[in-house]
Amino acid sequence: MEGSKHQVLDYLRRHRGEYISGEELSRQLAITRTAVWKHIQALRREGYRIDAQTRRGYCLLGTPDCLYPEEVAVGLKTSWLGRQLYYYDEVGSTNQVAKELADNGAPEGTVVVAEAQSGGRGRRGRLWLSPPQKGIWFSLIFRPRVAPTQASQLTLLAAVAVAAAVRKYTGLPPGIKWPNDILLGGRKVCGILTEIKAEMDAVEYIVQGIGLNVNAEADDFTPDVRPYATSLFLELGRRVARLPLFQEMLYQLEKWYERWQEEGFEPVRSAWKEASVTLGREVAVNSWREVTTGVAVDIDVEGALKVRTAGGEVRRFTSGEVTLRPV
Ligand code: BTN
Repeated sequence: MEGSKHQVLDYLRRHRGEYISGEELSRQLAITRTAVWKHIQALRREGYRIDAQTRRGYCLLGTPDCLYPEEVAVGLKTSWLGRQLYYYDEVGSTNQVAKELADNGAPEGTVVVAEAQSGGRGRRGRLWLSPPQKGIWFSLIFRPRVAPTQASQLTLLAAVAVAAAVRKYTGLPPGIKWPNDILLGGRKVCGILTEIKAEMDAVEYIVQGIGLNVNAEADDFTPDVRPYATSLFLELGRRVARLPLFQEMLYQLEKWYERWQEEGFEPVRSAWKEASVTLGREVAVNSWREVTTGVAVDIDVEGALKVRTAGGEVRRFTSGEVTLRPV
């Protein structure tokens, strides 16, 4: 946001509930009264509810449910994650933007968020529906000092962190389907797409794209995905404010990431197992080559899924698509 407009907003925010005269704003911020009025108009166009009364001045009544960097920064509990935030009204894919930024040296913790994506990408080249303001569509840049084989741990970590934020914020009980789909009532509410750039022995960066369906309604999903998809709105029967939930997700992601760097994978692994809806279930794993059926028995130290087949053999999967068999 442009400098003096941001200052107007900041001033009104610090005096929330009070009327501030145009004269006071102009004097305090050293700008003309016409400039004050122009900024007020621009802020209203962005969705800020600002009352204007003759003689009393301006009063900030409400902020929009947009993920503007200025709004995200207010009350954000992280110390480094999301402190560098790129915001788009609409973009092709936040993962694509994040990869370009990472290629150009963007630091760890950089986040890209969009109100809508025109070409949101899911796993296995699928499309990810991302209608305006119906969800939280964002990507994170990490530069962990780990071997590429450990990178998949971060995939599970993201699911643990997002599930914790959803649980904390809505009271709903999310379940994680390996590796990192988040389900509510058996339907997918959040998908995570992890992309990695690495040398043989070192990770250069990991871009993690997270798509959480927040206020999407049934009609927002195409008929083919409708039976398998849900949103917080559909589960709760009421709309959910995205901004505080986004802040909570960033906080949980930072917390879990730091814990992973300090304590290793074990805490993530046990939190993942606790929230898992995969372990103990009959599953079909579709890996690139074949479909394996059996019982999901565990995840190992690298985050791989272990499945015991009918013949008693335990197979290990580092990637693949899991379908839960009906119980
Ligand atoms: C999946 O198929 O489960 C993964 C979906 C990931 C969607 C998110 S939305 C933000 C980011 N940008 C994208 O293009 N995809 C991810």
